[in-house]
Formats: sequence, structure tokens, C-alpha cells
Amino acid sequence: MRFQNVISTASLLALASVVAASDVLDLTPDNFDDTVNPESLMLVEFFAPWCGHCKALAPHYEEAATVLKEKDIKLAKVNCVDEADMCQKNGVQGYPTLRVYRNGEHTQYSGPRSAEGIISYMTKQSLPAVGSITKETFNAFKKADKLVVLALVNSASDALAVEFNATAAKHRDDFLFGLTTDKEVFEAASVTPPAVIVYRSFDEPVTEYPYPIASATTADFESWIKDLAVPVIDQVNAENYQVYAQSGKPLAYLFLDPTDENKDEYINLVKPIAAKYKGKLNFVWIDAVQFGDHAKALNLQEAKWPSFVVQDLSNQLKYPFDQSAELTESSIGKLVEAYLDGKLEPSLKSQPIPAEQTESVWELVGKQFDEVVFDDSKDVFVEFYAPWCGHCKRLKPTWDSLGDRYADAKDRLVIAKMDATENDLPPSVPFRIAGFPTLKFKKAGSKEFIDYDGDRTLESLVAFLEENVSAPVEKNETAVPPPESPESAQEPLVEHHEHHDEL
Ligand SMILES: *[C@@H]1O[C@H](CO)[C@@H](O)[C@H](O)[C@H]1NC(C)=O
Ligand SMILES: *[C@@H]1O[C@H](CO)[C@@H](O)[C@H](O)[C@H]1NC(C)=O
Ligand SMILES: *[C@@H]1O[C@H](CO)[C@@H](O)[C@H](O)[C@H]1NC(C)=O
Repeated sequence: MRFQNVISTASLLALASVVAASDVLDLTPDNFDDTVNPESLMLVEFFAPWCGHCKALAPHYEEAATVLKEKDIKLAKVNCVDEADMCQKNGVQGYPTLRVYRNGEHTQYSGPRSAEGIISYMTKQSLPAVGSITKETFNAFKKADKLVVLALVNSASDALAVEFNATAAKHRDDFLFGLTTDKEVFEAASVTPPAVIVYRSFDEPVTEYPYPIASATTADFESWIKDLAVPVIDQVNAENYQVYAQSGKPLAYLFLDPTDENKDEYINLVKPIAAKYKGKLNFVWIDAVQFGDHAKALNLQEAKWPSFVVQDLSNQLKYPFDQSAELTESSIGKLVEAYLDGKLEPSLKSQPIPAEQTESVWELVGKQFDEVVFDDSKDVFVEFYAPWCGHCKRLKPTWDSLGDRYADAKDRLVIAKMDATENDLPPSVPFRIAGFPTLKFKKAGSKEFIDYDGDRTLESLVAFLEENVSAPVEKNETAVPPPESPESAQEPLVEHHEHHDEL
């Protein structure tokens, strides 16, 4: 028995060494560029040994590497604990991060994490990004996706085909691309080559590239296709909100009750305006019942639908349509035009100005922001908070105590707080709030706001002020010190409700 045990342990060891002969390449700063850059297609995993998802992926990754090796597709991995610098330089933010590399350029891997899924995804990636279209496949291709792009050229080696194929290679996961040299397809599509056509299942079904095609570059095709991919007006929800957020363009919302029998009429009212300003603003309609909180956040006062609002996403400014006025094609058109001409004032939410300031910390509201913060005779230190934010609650006793310390110096240093969920920042302010709490200091007479991102002990806050105030101020040493909470983390802008939907 004993003898047998020794044998089986030995064979297990032998087996282990077989398994250890992995087909996954190990990358380090020494071999990364030399290994990755020459490969026309390769998959790289950035991982940490402690990460559970990475451990679960490992056997699948090994198996896929062995199968894909036969198709000449390499899989590699980078240990981000050993190579922390390299992972940071590559912008790796979570584990595992999987990237598809083509001659050194990468895109995100968006396939499944099973062996079979990886094999199938990478095999598809190795096929041409551009399908060859003939008279037989033309009709099916036009309808194969919501948006497909077809290049019609006399020769597949045209300069246009080079740019087109490069566009396709970059966006192969986003859209379907085809190329044809078939004269019968030219005829069926009624174009003279060279031409590029987008076929869509929404809005205008056929759109030919309208600019000089001979000089069109990958970047030209990209921006043209991306614009066409956004419908003139679509319903926005949690799934597609990112498309609009990433475009960075102002977003115009039509808030509708989806059970309203006139719903489609309202959408049709906005459609011509949306078509007219396409490319400058994105237009959406949104379920006002489900996203009622979002309407409130955009400063629509009443739950009265339909309502309309333009949101400047990059500056967090809101331009709601007056809810007491009638919503017509002409009135909406006027608002959008005035907005684009820069003639519209944003709506700024504000709590009423407090009748008196009862505490040593100044209670700041939107309406008084300019007056208090841009008072050139005073330094100001403001905490922007949200009532639901836990870090803010823990900071409160310290912030109160800071106020007490400088209560006698109020004419030269204001310690303030503002509920940023109830008060908007005026457009004159050069920053936007990105998390809670946000602490900003401004010297008297200066236009510049300094971020406080040190720890939140009274000691550190006082040291910051001592060093940064315009002129020395008296502090009241007898003020009661708070319990300490030396954190410096922030919470996101949006509260994670359990009962409401968020975009
Ligand atoms: C572009 O892609 C098509 C389809 O894969 C191919 O036939 C053609 O040769 C390519 N042209 C160039 C210039 O790369
Ligand atoms: C004073 O402000 C600067 C930023 O302008 C900061 O780097 C410095 O740490 C501050 N002083 C203290 C003691 O926190
Ligand atoms: C200093 O703080 C203490 C405790 O908060 C307070 O009782 C006292 O009045 C303050 N002194 C001055 C001069 O404001």
C-alpha cells in the first residue's frame, strides 16, 4: 500500500509538470513589446494572484490557449502584483482586464469567460472585419443588423478600401461592415462607385457618405457612422444612457408618461427639431414615471408630463422648459435655438436664503453662492455634501468644530457647507462636484479653488488653513475637539436607491 502511494504521488507530480507546461505566455516589461507588437491578433490578461474571478478564469484561459495556439492565436498574461508599474502605465484598473491586441493596438475583450467562449470570440476576431458582399448576399446583408456599412469599390485594393477596412477593424465589435466590387450590387444600390452606404433599420434607412469620398479617412468614417448610430429620437434608459453620456453632447429629454395615449404625438412634435439639430444635441424621450427622480434632478419642479429639458452634460447645467407654458413644436424649437445661441440662462436650484446664520458654520445656498464665496475680503472653505452621504455625516462634528475654532475670525475666513443636492453651482464656478464630500478652499481675491484632499482630522484641516489663509487668523483653542474620523474617501454623486430607478 505504502509503495503504491509513493508511485501515485510520483505520477501526480509528473502530471502536474505536464499541466504546468502552459500555452499561456508570461509577459514582463522585458518582453511585452517584442511579444505583443508583431502579432496581428493576440489576447492578454492582466491579473492579480489574489483575485477570485482571475482564479476562476485560469483553467478556461489555459484550455483556450492550447486550442487557439493551433490557429496561431497567442494568449498571454501579466501578473499585476509582480509588474505593478507596467499595469499602472497600461491603465489597468480592475482584475481581470482582458485586451485584444492587434500589432500593439488594443481593444477591450468583450466576449465570454469560458474556454469555449474565448475560443469562439477569438476565432471570429481572426476572420476579416469586412465581409465580401455579392449580389446573392446583398439583400440579407442590408438587414443583418440595426446599422450596417457597405463600401462599393471598383477594386478591392482602392485607397478607399484601405481606410474603410481600417475603420472596420477598429469597430468590428460595434457594427457590421461589408465591401463589394460586384457591378450588380452597384446597380441594385443605385450608386456609382466609389461610395459608402449605411443601411439602418431606424430613421432614414439608406444614407450615402455625403462628403468627398476620395479624401475620406478612417476618422471621417468613424464620426459619420457614430452620428448615424444615434437615432434622431430614441427612448433612453439604463442600458443605452452611456452612449449619450460618452458622446458628451448636450442631451434634450422629453419626459413622458408612457401610458399617455398621446405619447407618440408628443414624440412626433419633437422629431423635426431633433432632426434639425442632429449632431449638435442628442434627443431622447424618457419614462417620466419610472425616472421621476431624474426629472427632479433636472429641475423640473412638478410631476407634470410631457415636460422638456436640455441638460449640458459636460458642465452639469440644466435648461428646463417652463412647465406652465404650452409645449408645442414652435415653443420647444425656440428653447433649443436660444440654448444653442447661448442666450438661455441655466436654471439654478437653491434652497431659500436662511433668515439668519445660527451656527458657526455658514449655511450656504445657491442663491447666495456668488455673494459669499466671491466676497473678495474673505477666505472661504466650503464643504459640499449630500444629506444621505455617510462620509459627510462622519465629518460633521469635525467641520462644526472647525467652524467654532474660527468663529471669531468670521470677517476674514468663512467655514461653510452647502447641500449640493438642493443647490446648484452657478456657471461662474470653474469646477463641478464629482463626489461627496468635496472640500474646496478659495483665498480672498483669488479666482482659484484649491482642493482639500488630505485626511479629515481637525488637526490636518487646521494645519491646511494655517498654511493657506491669506493672513494669520486667531483660532479659539478652547473649542471642543470632535471625535476623529481620519478618512479621505468620497461617495459617488448619485445615491444608490433601492426603490427608484436611475440612469
Ligand atoms: C478590404 O477588405 C476586403 C474584405 O475582406 C478585402 O477583399 C480587401 O482586399 C481589403 N482591401 C484592402 C485594401 O485591405
Ligand atoms: C496648502 O495648500 C497647498 C495647495 O495649494 C497644499 O499643497 C498644501 O499641502 C497646503 N498646506 C497644508 C499644510 O495642508
Ligand atoms: C471659544 O470656544 C468655546 C467653546 O466652544 C466658547 O464657549 C467660547 O465662547 C469661545 N470663545 C470665543 C472668544 O469665542
